[in-house]
Order: sequence, then C-alpha cells, then structure tokens
Amino acid sequence: MAATDTAYDADFRTGQIKVHAPADFDGMRAAGKLAAECLDMLTPHVVPGVVTDDLDRLAREFILDRRAIPACLGYRGYTRTLCISPNHIVCHGIPGERTLREGDIANIDVTVIVDGWHGDTSRMYGVGPVAPRAKRLIDVTYEAIARGIAAAQPGARTGDIGHAIQTYVESMRCSVVRDFCGHGLGKVFHDAPNILHFGQPGTGDLLRPGMFFTIEPMVNLGKYQVKLLSDGWTAVTRDKSLSAQCEHSIGITETGNEVFTASPTGQFKPPVISA
Ligand code: MF3
Ligand code: CO
Ligand code: CO
Repeated sequence: MAATDTAYDADFRTGQIKVHAPADFDGMRAAGKLAAECLDMLTPHVVPGVVTDDLDRLAREFILDRRAIPACLGYRGYTRTLCISPNHIVCHGIPGERTLREGDIANIDVTVIVDGWHGDTSRMYGVGPVAPRAKRLIDVTYEAIARGIAAAQPGARTGDIGHAIQTYVESMRCSVVRDFCGHGLGKVFHDAPNILHFGQPGTGDLLRPGMFFTIEPMVNLGKYQVKLLSDGWTAVTRDKSLSAQCEHSIGITETGNEVFTASPTGQFKPPVISA
C-alpha cells in the first residue's frame, strides 16, 4: 500500500493493531495457501509472448472456481485480479494488452479472500533467461524478505523488520522503495500497522502474538525514488532502473512467526534462469 494511505478502519484511526485469536490463524492459513497456489498455477504460463491480461483471467478463474474472491477486483476502482509489474515497474502494474518478452522480469501480486480472510502474496518471475544483473536483483530481494521475516518476532518492533531489510539491500548496492509499505491484514485488506521496509531498530510498533501483516519490500537496482503514472496505479522507478518485489502474509506467534503464503509445493520463488 502507499505509505501515506490510511485504511478505512476504526482500529487504524485509533492506532490499535488487532491481536487475533489462535483460531483466526486457520482462516489466514486457508487464504494464504490459496494465494500461493494461484502463483504456483501461473508459473508455467509466464513465458515469452504471454499477454498479461490472459494471466489475469487465469488467476481470476482459478480463484472463483475455488469459491474465493479476488480482493483487488473492484478495490478502490481497480479492475483486475492481479498486479503485474515488469522491469522498471515497481508495483501495481495493471494487466492488459502488454505481452511479456524474453528477458523480462515481472512481479505478480495476488490477494484472495477466503471466508473473509485475506491472503496477499507476490513473487518474481523470469520470462525465459534473464540478464545476470536482473537475476542478482531478484536474489537480493528474496534474501531481503527472508531477513525481514526473520526479524518479525514477538517482542520486536516494526522498525527491526525495516532495518534488517534496508541494511542488507543497501549492503548489496541496491535501494529500498520508501513510498510503499507492508500492512496489517486479516478480515481487512489494508490495516494497521504500516510495515516500512527501512528504519531504525527498536522503533515502531511492538509485535505481539496474533498480529497479522505483510512484508513486501520493493528493491531497485538504481535509486529508490518512484513516480506514479497517469493511470493512477502504476508506480515506476524515476531513473528507469529495474525493480523487484516479493510479498508474504505472516502472523506473529508466541515463538516466532508463521508464513501463511508459503507455497505448498515448496516454491519459495519460481526458478529464474540467468542468461
Ligand atoms: N496486493 C497489493 C498489496 O500488496 C495491493 C494491490 S491493490 C490493487 O497490498 F488495487 F492495486 F490491486
Ligand atoms: Co500487500
Ligand atoms: Co500484494
């Protein structure tokens, strides 16, 4: 979500972060699993020449066939199931007539609603073999989210997550996008807290068992600045450098965290081949 956004939710306005009951984890597990399965389903279809709207239709039908709801469809006027963000598109790319070409890298982001619970996840896909620097950017992004997830512990703070991501990404001479952040979710799509992917340790909201949120760092090969295109959704890097993202929905537990959107087939990310 945009870092400046406020969710339309009473709990958000009072600054409260929902602490969910143990039974609510079951709801998030089901939603997260279906979202991950949707991304798994798309993998063999992300090939040179595929039309992005055809990927969107595949995802919509997959979700509706399973009696779930595509959360983005109709969300604040958005008309698609997926966000597909190739190359220098940072996030919220709108599927349409565009085809993916060999060498492109693309993030695909899906959110499903199952029994009222939201599962929100995204991954990178390589369209055929990709340039080594594109492969490296994707590897940095996956390591960044892994470090962010590892920092999401009961008793830690949101700033610990951001700090873990930022220090790693910048040590790899890449940059972290500032204008979009992770978010609380559950029965609400975008809720408190905001999860910034940069920051100082020991700052921000205290993490407690039962809190649900996404971590979804956007990492650029160049500078971190982005701009919004005139469609009101598509965010691109200002310097036109490549951008990558990965997103998981997680819950804080007594002992650590649970990743709701892990792929049941063990695909942490689809294989990306370096040219
Ligand atoms: N799934 C995106 C997120 O990670 C939100 C997309 S909103 C949409 O929060 F309307 F653009 F689909
Ligand atoms: Co999200
Ligand atoms: Co998402």
